[in-house]
Amino acid sequence: MTQDEMKKAVAQAAIEYVEAGTIVGVGTGSTANFFIDELAKIKHKIEGTVASSEASAERLRGHGIEVFDLNNVSEIAVYIDGADESNKFLHLVKGGGGALTREKIVAAASKKFVCIADETKLVDVMGKFPLPIEVIPMARSLVAREIIKQIGGEPVLREGFTTDNGNIILDVHNLEIMEPTKMEQTLNNITGVVTNGLFAMRPADVLLLGTAEGVKTIT
Ligand code: A5P
Repeated sequence: MTQDEMKKAVAQAAIEYVEAGTIVGVGTGSTANFFIDELAKIKHKIEGTVASSEASAERLRGHGIEVFDLNNVSEIAVYIDGADESNKFLHLVKGGGGALTREKIVAAASKKFVCIADETKLVDVMGKFPLPIEVIPMARSLVAREIIKQIGGEPVLREGFTTDNGNIILDVHNLEIMEPTKMEQTLNNITGVVTNGLFAMRPADVLLLGTAEGVKTIT
């Protein structure tokens, strides 16, 4: 099974978590794109969606699926999104696509977070995938220095990239994330940081993992 076939399999499996008549939170990335294409097949059953990026909103609208502003929605039943890394506690590293802030907001607004990923994403210790940090542009150097001082690693500016919120991304290389919750809090406390890509304080509730043997459900 190819990586794309695994992504498609978990996207199909995630449809089981979509409840009729509800609003669905939709993530960003190639796995989320497969999910959007699956959601299109049952679009008449849902009330609509909230998207975690302009790119996903555009794909959803392209399928004729309604996209609501989060401010006009009182509850999101389930949020479906991919990840760059997950550990067995369903703590995640996200933001490879640069949508981490809106992803964290939609995850926070959702009753249930179902993460969909292929088996390459499950790791013992996170940090091999560079940890994305969204930063207010004028604070770039200050934040980079503070990251090195407080958590180590090597922050690298994501060249030529601006987030949907008009900010920059620092990708922190060479981390071994032994205490994800503590690191998430430490990074949140650095002035100038908008969000970091660790989802440990609000981890996923369910991980649907695409493997060669089929989709595994981890809770
Ligand atoms: C987007 O900002 C990310 O958080 C994605 O969820 C993550 O990068 C997973 O992307 P893929 O599904 O393309 O691997």
